[in-house]
Amino acid sequence: MTAGPGPTLAVVGATGAVGTVMLQILSQHADIWGEIRLVASPRSAGRKLAVRGEETEVVALSEEVFDGVDIAMFDVPDEVAAHWAPIAAARGVVVVDNSAAFRMDPDVPLVVPEVNAHTARVRPRGIIANPNCTTLSMIVALGALHAEFGLRELVVSSYQAVSGAGQAGVRTLRQQLSLVAGTELGTSPGDVRRAVGDRTGPFPEPVALNVVPWAGTLREDGWSSEEMKVRDESRKILGLPRLPVAVTCVRVPVVTAHSLTVHARFEDEVTVDRAREILATAPGVVLCDDPAAGEFPTPADVVGTDPTWVGRVRRALDDPTALELFVCGDNLRKGAALNTAQIAELVAAEMS
Ligand SMILES: NC(=O)c1ccc[n+]([C@@H]2O[C@H](COP(=O)([O-])OP(=O)(O)OC[C@H]3O[C@@H](n4cnc5c(N)ncnc54)[C@H](OP(=O)(O)O)[C@@H]3O)[C@@H](O)[C@H]2O)c1
Repeated sequence: MTAGPGPTLAVVGATGAVGTVMLQILSQHADIWGEIRLVASPRSAGRKLAVRGEETEVVALSEEVFDGVDIAMFDVPDEVAAHWAPIAAARGVVVVDNSAAFRMDPDVPLVVPEVNAHTARVRPRGIIANPNCTTLSMIVALGALHAEFGLRELVVSSYQAVSGAGQAGVRTLRQQLSLVAGTELGTSPGDVRRAVGDRTGPFPEPVALNVVPWAGTLREDGWSSEEMKVRDESRKILGLPRLPVAVTCVRVPVVTAHSLTVHARFEDEVTVDRAREILATAPGVVLCDDPAAGEFPTPADVVGTDPTWVGRVRRALDDPTALELFVCGDNLRKGAALNTAQIAELVAAEMS
């Protein structure tokens, strides 16, 4: 097939958990692209992947793969992005990076199109950062409430899917599930751990039949890197550099779709009715909140969908300025690939 007249796009990390979903999204969205180049490590060079209904060969990452490229999406580990994104940018490519390498760089905008699209235009380093999946799974809903009520404080707990740790996370949960399926395990201390042995993959503890109060690496005073990302990135996206944010990140045995409980305190008194109106009409948000009918969002229904789903909307019992919410979003779609695709589409529109 001959490429169309649109900008040339490179997908770097096309074979990964995020890259795989990116190829689906590129095949589902309006096709604005000319050539699409698929890039990964030398391990994957020569593999063929389908995008826009066409088998496309994966090429190994090198300086030359960026020749003629207008926009590159980076879906690779932090250290790979840290090294290669500036190389691509120096060759005139606008990089939309999914890693954590540049998110807190003051010269790199951190963009969620529904919340702060305007910031994408100012990119002194030629790099735009995509927030982390946990922040992204809640921030569209919070941005809408903040625009009306003025956010003053956040207390968040996450229930994170294993695909947040990439393909290795998914493989690990599936293997552990096969080890515990059909057994009586989960009834005495350590029985799951003994069955799983050292097959814990990227997680510090067994994740099948378990919840693990840890995601990322150890930071100061017992906080995890994932918790610090949610705090720092929420502040940057919302333009609230001193927002008090308390986060606990927890891994659960779900393949894909992160969930969060959120306690959000605002400037003044809030009403549930108005909050529900805002959430029901905010772009990118679906209100799914009818506990009497047993309706609330869960990962099993949210996986594979684009919006941020919100349920269990309540006013805090002891604070009329605060709301309690349960938020759920696909960490590989809005939490990663979809948001990146939306940013790339914004940049492509500038170019046309
Ligand atoms: N998973 C999520 O929910 C999520 C959400 C938001 C952001 N992110 C971020 O997105 C990035 C990708 O995550 P992922 O979950 O998709 O990881 P993943 O499944 O491990 O995939 C990593 C990708 O990077 C490629 N890669 C690794 N080393 C490379 C190298 N030296 N040169 C070129 N390509 C290389 C891999 O290619 P090969 O297949 O050839 O090895 C693969 O395509 C990470 O920075 C992650 O933090 C992930």
